[in-house]
Amino acid sequence: MMGGDIYRESKTTFAIYDNDAREIEAIKYSISKGQNHIDTAYMYGAGHTEELVGEAIKGTDRDKLFIADKLWKCHARRNSVIPAVKEMLRRLQTDYIDMLYIHAPWEEEPMEEYIKGINDAMDAGLTKSLAVSNFTVEQLKKAIAISKHPIIANQLRYNILYKTDANDEMIKFCQSNAIMIVAYRPIERKLLADEVEDKTVVEIAEKYKKTPAQIAINWLITQDNVVAIPKSSSKEHIDENLKALDFELEPEDFEKLKQIPDIE
Ligand SMILES: NC(=O)c1ccc[n+]([C@@H]2O[C@H](COP(=O)([O-])OP(=O)(O)OC[C@H]3O[C@@H](n4cnc5c(N)ncnc54)[C@H](OP(=O)(O)O)[C@@H]3O)[C@@H](O)[C@H]2O)c1
Repeated sequence: MMGGDIYRESKTTFAIYDNDAREIEAIKYSISKGQNHIDTAYMYGAGHTEELVGEAIKGTDRDKLFIADKLWKCHARRNSVIPAVKEMLRRLQTDYIDMLYIHAPWEEEPMEEYIKGINDAMDAGLTKSLAVSNFTVEQLKKAIAISKHPIIANQLRYNILYKTDANDEMIKFCQSNAIMIVAYRPIERKLLADEVEDKTVVEIAEKYKKTPAQIAINWLITQDNVVAIPKSSSKEHIDENLKALDFELEPEDFEKLKQIPDIE
């Protein structure tokens, strides 16, 4: 939700955010602390989030960053992809993306169109790798069959309170096919932080002397082929989240957290 959270072309009122300076500062701070994976999308603020990223990365060694961006359905036809990616790069003020996602498997758009489109973008040197988001195992298999380049990640909503999409079948499939699961909403938008209610999460956090957010992030990244992309515009939260990296959950605690029923 950096850069405004409403898709401009949806004709709903666009929330004009005046947080740009704070958000640019947060990205810079995060990079200074060693984080290098930046996740953005055309859909976030209809390109404005990409502009914030572009401002924030100025002066940073590009090789040290891993920038992931996502195409939205208005650019899902094969011949729309390259022009859309060139616009992304202009907003990001860089000349390549590290990982180009398809934001979702839109039913009304033929998969052949956008998968071939992102392959064209890779052939043109505009992205170094390809990925998908919100795909099921069946959709992943279809995408892999169409794509001449490997699909290296599937970005999914995945956290202690939501395991429906990154279920055991998905995790196994990704692990056996060298596909990373990039867990979005890793702290379920504060339900695994300030607003935590689940007793098991609270008890385990107390046991490890960690915060619920740290437990939530650690629980994800302890799994093979899983990375987490928590969003934060607060330096305090960025520091807190980075301290999710310095401990290991015992297997029985991992399992207890896994058994918590999904919220919806
Ligand atoms: N592929 C997709 O369809 C899709 C969908 C949704 C999201 N995403 C991606 O995933 C990223 C993360 O997901 P998300 O933003 O939806 O959810 P999230 O990372 O689970 O939660 C973000 C919220 O938690 C707060 N927060 C972060 N760390 C905290 C901490 N230690 N203590 C208390 N609050 C904390 C943030 O506030 P502060 O900023 O104040 O810290 C923000 O309000 C997004 O930025 C986006 O890049 C992708």
